[in-house]
Amino acid sequence: MEILENASLREFNTFGIDAKAAKLSSFFSAADLKEILQNKELRKMERLILGGGSNVLLTKDFEGLVLKNEVPGIELIQEDDEFYYVRSGAGENWHKFVLKCIENDWAGLENLSLIPGNVGASPMQNIGAYGVEVKDRFHELEAFNLKTLETEIFDAEACQFGYRESVFKRQLKDKYIILSVTYRLFKTPQLNTSYGAIQGELNSLGIHKPTIKDVSDAVIRIRSSKLPDPKVIGNAGSFFKNPVVGNNIYQDIAKKHPEMPHYPAPMGQHKLAAGWLIEQSGWKGFVRGTHGVHAKQALVLVNHGGATGNEIYSLSEEILQDVKSKFGVELEREVNII
Ligand code: FAD
Ligand code: EPU
Repeated sequence: MEILENASLREFNTFGIDAKAAKLSSFFSAADLKEILQNKELRKMERLILGGGSNVLLTKDFEGLVLKNEVPGIELIQEDDEFYYVRSGAGENWHKFVLKCIENDWAGLENLSLIPGNVGASPMQNIGAYGVEVKDRFHELEAFNLKTLETEIFDAEACQFGYRESVFKRQLKDKYIILSVTYRLFKTPQLNTSYGAIQGELNSLGIHKPTIKDVSDAVIRIRSSKLPDPKVIGNAGSFFKNPVVGNNIYQDIAKKHPEMPHYPAPMGQHKLAAGWLIEQSGWKGFVRGTHGVHAKQALVLVNHGGATGNEIYSLSEEILQDVKSKFGVELEREVNII
C-alpha cells in the first residue's frame, strides 16, 4: 500500500482547511486494512478514518495515520416481495448511490438526495433530511474490528441509532471501520412529501403524481437554494444539532416568541431549530474576515477562504455561549472536531 507522508488534507475536507497528516493511505478492502495495520509502526499510530470529509473540522495537523475509505461497489444482493436489499461499498459517494437507486426504482432514499460524503459515514451519524433518516431504510453493515482485524456484521439494533447518533459515535468510537452498508429499499414507493417545502416545490412545478425522481429533484432544488456548495464555499453542513429541550424551557421562549419553529420530541420534550436560535441571536450572515455564518442558513458555519479550523471553532464557541445566554439553551456541535 502506498503511504504518503506529511500529506495535505485540504482536498479531503469540505471546509477546505489546510491541515496536514503525518501519514495518509487509501484502502479499498478489508485485506488492504489488514496489510496496513499489520505494520507495527502504523498500527501504533493514532488513526482518523475519512470518507468525504464533509462532517469534520480539522483544528490542527493530524500527527497520526489518516485512512481514506475507497471501498467500491454497489450491488443488489437480495429481494423479497416487498424489498430490494442493496449493498454499497463504504467508499461510494452517497449522492451517486442515491441516484443509482432512483434509476433502478429502488425506492426510499430520495429524500436524502444531495447529502455530501460517502456511504460509509451514513450510519455513523444516522444522516437525515426532509423527514427520513438512514435508520428508516437500513438493513445491516459490515465493519472492520480494529482490535481483532476481523469483520463483523451489525444490524439496526446493534447500531443504536438516534438523532445524528449511533453506537459508532459513542461506546464503539474509533473501534471499527465501516466497510459496506446494506439498505432495504421499497419495491412500491412510499413517498414522503409532507416535510418542509417538498410539497410546495412539487405543486409549483404542476406535479400531482410525483415519482421518486420528482421527489429527489424537488429536494435537490430546495437544498441548493439555501445550503452552500462546498466546492464554492467551505462548510460541513449544520454545525450544531437541533436542541431537544424540556417543556419549561420551551414555554419560556415560546411566551416571548410564539412564532418560534418547534417539533414534538419524545417524553413531552420539544425539538427547537438551532438555525432560528442563532439567527435570532444576530449571527446570520456574520463575517469575520476569512470565515463566518452562512447568509441563507444560520446553522452553517463557512470558510470564505483561508480560515483555520481553530478560527471556525472559536466562532462556534462564541455562538454557543451567546445562544446560551440569550435563550438558556446549550447547543451541541454536530460536526466532528479533530
Ligand atoms: P467524514 O466527514 O469523512 O467523516 C465523518 C465522521 O465519520 C468522522 O468522525 C470519521 O472518522 C467517521 N467515518 C467516516 N467514514 C467512516 C467509516 N467508513 N468507518 C468508520 N468511521 C467513519 N448530514 C445530514 O445528516 N443531513 C444533511 O442534510 C446534511 N447536509 C449537509 C450539507 C452540506 C453542504 C454538507 C457539507 C454536509 C451535510 N451533512 C448532512 C453532513 C455530512 O454530509 C454527513 O455527515 C455525511 O454522512 C458525512 O460523510 P463523510 O463521508 O464526508 O464523512
Ligand atoms: N431557520 C431560521 N433561520 C435559519 C435557519 C433555519 O429561522 O437561518 C428556521 C427555518 O425557517 C425552519 C427551521 O429553522 O423553520 C428549520 O430549518 P430547515 O428546514 O432549514 O432545517 P434545519 O433544522 O436547519 C435540519 C438538518 C439538516 C437537514 C434539514 C432538512 C440538523 C442539525 N440539520 O436543518 O441537516 O438537511 O433539517 O431536513 O438536524 C446537516 O445535518 O448537516 C444538515 C444540513
